[in-house]
Amino acid sequence: MSSRATREIDPVPSLRRPPEVLVTDTLPPVADAAALAVPVVAGEPPPSDLHTDTSQLAVLGFSGAPNEVVVLPDPGGRALVALGVGEAPSVDACLVRDLAATFARAVPRHTTLAVELSGTDLPLSPDDFAQAVVEGVLLARWRFFLGAGKDEPRLTRLTLVVPPGLVEQARAGATRGEVTARAAAISRDLSNCPAATLSAERMGQVAEEVAPLAGLEVELFDRQQLEEMGCGGILGVNRGSVDEPRLIKVSYRPDSPTGHLGLVGKGIMYDSGGISLKPSDESHAQMKNDMTGAAAILGAMTALRDLGCTSAVTAYLCCTDNMPSGSAMKLGDVLHMRNGTTVEVLNTDAEGRLVMADGLCLAVEDGVDAVVDVATLTGACLRTFGVDIAGVMGSDPGLVEQVRRAGDVADEPVWELPLHRGYRSQLDSQVADMTNMGGPNAGSITAALFLEEFTDGIPWAHVDIASTAQQPTERTWRNKGASGFGARLLVELATRFESPRTGP
Ligand code: BES
Ligand code: MN
Ligand code: ZN
Repeated sequence: MSSRATREIDPVPSLRRPPEVLVTDTLPPVADAAALAVPVVAGEPPPSDLHTDTSQLAVLGFSGAPNEVVVLPDPGGRALVALGVGEAPSVDACLVRDLAATFARAVPRHTTLAVELSGTDLPLSPDDFAQAVVEGVLLARWRFFLGAGKDEPRLTRLTLVVPPGLVEQARAGATRGEVTARAAAISRDLSNCPAATLSAERMGQVAEEVAPLAGLEVELFDRQQLEEMGCGGILGVNRGSVDEPRLIKVSYRPDSPTGHLGLVGKGIMYDSGGISLKPSDESHAQMKNDMTGAAAILGAMTALRDLGCTSAVTAYLCCTDNMPSGSAMKLGDVLHMRNGTTVEVLNTDAEGRLVMADGLCLAVEDGVDAVVDVATLTGACLRTFGVDIAGVMGSDPGLVEQVRRAGDVADEPVWELPLHRGYRSQLDSQVADMTNMGGPNAGSITAALFLEEFTDGIPWAHVDIASTAQQPTERTWRNKGASGFGARLLVELATRFESPRTGP
């Protein structure tokens, strides 16, 4: 089966040698900071460290507008990177993250970077500033490359230089940034890892590997256990595969929790469509990323203890691939889901909702206050939103709002679609409680209506990341390829979670 070479691929290289992040009040020597970012506010003279003035910068076409960037040599041998900030009062954490990423990409061959926060009077606390800088730089310089590395050496050190009185505050923010960037990096690693390496079983091993580093508990359920548990959705999708499924339960349990959040992730390690085989087009070629929901959740869970999350979090990652074979699901087959609901399969490519159904049932059985699921669920979501924005729907407006706000903070934006229950009849079946196929239109909404059937009326929100899971270009902190979208959103959601049942 898997060759020796395949087994040697590390699914989470970001865990191995993360860049060092330092916070200090003195600019390090060139040897420790080969490139220095110097923010320039539009309409103000550049800081003296740039050894230049407004008119010389104008010669280079630089006006200080947001994300403008010019690299200048300094007499001491350092690359000075003038970064346009725009008008100072309009600077927020999202812009700072973008600027930091622009800086890190402007000097791709420099391995030691420094950012100066001194001399800037911005409407942002030093810790939020530091967090955003660390996130921007680390995410922009993240790589998953199975080869020599394309002349892009790894970032080894990032130094934040701040006024003496702000070192402690900035250090706290920088540490938070390291933790959230690591969450995103783990989820990007996993989403980019080839399906031949990252089977459902291997995903379970990765969960077990990260758990002790992050104070998490992991429980794995194999095919036989899933049979005993009556998880007909996961088993049905797995039927065509030579690889076992894994249901991965990840738990975070703080002392005296203030709430209990359930998370359910789509972990289709590879989505061929099954018997309803996908055409061999560009979108099929990205289907190793059909486990981005599960990857984002696992990444996010690694941040909770380090950020002092006060809510308990229970996650179910529903992992299997979706393959055609002599044993695969056939159209017209009826599956018995965990909660007893019967589902007639009319398209084996609508597999995500089948595995998610079992995961939702289990989260609900755990007595969570609310459940949020994350899935690359529908191509319709990509056609609706394009690659910048994910979709959200749910049964509880307050919970949907918490998801939306978390997305804004993380700059992983989500917009709500109507959970229009008038379309529920599109899922009616002649022979079972429902089918897994809606009509030709409103595919994201009918998929969500399918999932709602497994939430037993508890507050629920569904995030469809089929739109954002694959990025066509690299832009600021966003990487090209499988994006791991959702990890930092989920970190924000969990750490700010307020149970909709008890109210704030
Ligand atoms: N994994 C896909 C959704 C997807 C499509 C994600 C494109 C990213 C890019 C999902 O399993 C799927 O195939 N959905 C079908 C559902 C349909 C058969 C009801 C779809 O959207 O076409
Ligand atoms: Mn599919
Ligand atoms: Zn899928």
